[in-house]
Amino acid sequence: MNETNKPRTSNAANADNDTGRSSVNYFEFREVCKAFDDRPVLNRVSFAVKRGETCVIMGRSGVGKSVSLKHIMGFLRADSGQVIVDGQDVTHFSEPQFYAIRRKVTMVFQSGALFDSLTVRDNIAFPIVNIRRRIHRQAGKRIGSRRCPG
Ligand SMILES: Nc1ncnc2c1ncn2[C@@H]1O[C@H](COP(=O)(O)OP(=O)(O)OP(=O)(O)O)[C@@H](O)[C@H]1O
Ligand SMILES: [Mg+2]
Repeated sequence: MNETNKPRTSNAANADNDTGRSSVNYFEFREVCKAFDDRPVLNRVSFAVKRGETCVIMGRSGVGKSVSLKHIMGFLRADSGQVIVDGQDVTHFSEPQFYAIRRKVTMVFQSGALFDSLTVRDNIAFPIVNIRRRIHRQAGKRIGSRRCPG
């Protein structure tokens, strides 16, 4: 994939902003390159997605769409260039630093990620409902049937 579009906002991502709260762009790629065994997949890819904006990456199979998303999640690392998420330059983030990013951003893998017996809504709700249930169970175990004082 060879995307030469420059970010749509000048000095767009405020990458120095650690909190990222005021960043205009939620995602930004700056001249990202990635090759596998010397076979280039991303060739100086630059783009920006503004906070609240919906963006679709289209292209033929094997062009590097999933590879791009995996850079945002920290599953793949760029050979060069910068990846910015919510105002933070995550290019050289450690694995523990990515934990916080993955609480804000997620991706659904193409295969093996969805329950085909469930609707899209129920698939999305699945982890939320199950985490709530687990928290509820744990709270029940810890608190038991103790009554409020007084
Ligand atoms: N971990 C990896 N090791 C080696 N090559 C890889 C790896 N991940 C991806 N590739 C290669 O990078 C290229 C881009 O793959 P990618 O999965 O991003 O394609 P895609 O655009 O998402 O395609 P599709 O539309 O089929 O999902 C492919 O040639 C793929 O074989
Ligand atoms: Mg893909």
